[in-house]
Amino acid sequence: MLKVLRVLVLPLGLLASTADAKTVTVNIVDFAFSANTLTLDSGDKVKWVNQDSFTHTSTSDTGVWDSGNLAKAQSFTQGFVKEGTFSYFCKIHPGMKASITVRSPEQTKVQIGKEIINSSPKRLPIKLNLTGKKADQVYLGSYIVNTQGGCNDCHTCPSFATGRDPYKGEALQFNAKAYLAGGKAFGPFISANLTPDANGKPAGVTLAEFKDLMRTGKDPHEPGNILQVMPWPVYGLMSDRDLEAIYAYLSSIPKAAQPDASACP
Ligand code: HEC
Repeated sequence: MLKVLRVLVLPLGLLASTADAKTVTVNIVDFAFSANTLTLDSGDKVKWVNQDSFTHTSTSDTGVWDSGNLAKAQSFTQGFVKEGTFSYFCKIHPGMKASITVRSPEQTKVQIGKEIINSSPKRLPIKLNLTGKKADQVYLGSYIVNTQGGCNDCHTCPSFATGRDPYKGEALQFNAKAYLAGGKAFGPFISANLTPDANGKPAGVTLAEFKDLMRTGKDPHEPGNILQVMPWPVYGLMSDRDLEAIYAYLSSIPKAAQPDASACP
């Protein structure tokens, strides 16, 4: 019985953590909302708590929500799904104003992709070269490469910094020195260096070549060869937009020399 329960409970727990929706509290104190502006992700909720001795409301300018009168210590919770900026005020004291911005799922990815590089403690201590690039596209690429693509698993050797290997129970930090510089052997196949070449082209390929190899597995450096090991058959199903974001990201990471596969565990 216990076993059955565990099996049932685990997937539910996973579901809850992937959704990761949060409730943010906004206090109403001294005739003001404690957060003038607030940025949320789709699915988050806001809980207004009136801590004043006077009655207040939280009322959307455009009729999206209205708390009704909130006496001292009363609260009101509203969920947000649609993206956009929502201004609101207190109906009783219209001078009290604030706003909430709900990010699109795409903007949330951009934000996470950026945080991976800028987190503290560091997860990926590299400096991106954003000159001439669209920062949001690069950060979306960071999101895809670092959270979904798993490119680091095969293209960085070793994959994690010393003392920061999650497989040893340590806090994650990617190996910045050899980040995506290739050199891991998979039988006779060695993962390629994906960092920019002298001309700034990641893995030495143009955007068109990159999209083509991700979709067809045809190695642009060795015509007639089909890339092995590399999960291009699934990556190739990505949208143009996502493949272009990966390319933009790989174009902006630091150059690094490919480690010698024999020295790589
Ligand atoms: C399971 C391991 C693995 C993963 C994961 C992986 N790769 Fe690879 N990749 C390889 C190997 C091995 C090669 C070399 C294959 C060969 O030579 O046949 C390669 C080759 C490549 C090449 C070709 C480079 C060239 O010069 O021919 C590119 C580009 C590339 N990978 C990009 C990526 C990107 C981007 C990701 C993440 C979205 C990724 N790879 C994830 C193993 C992997």
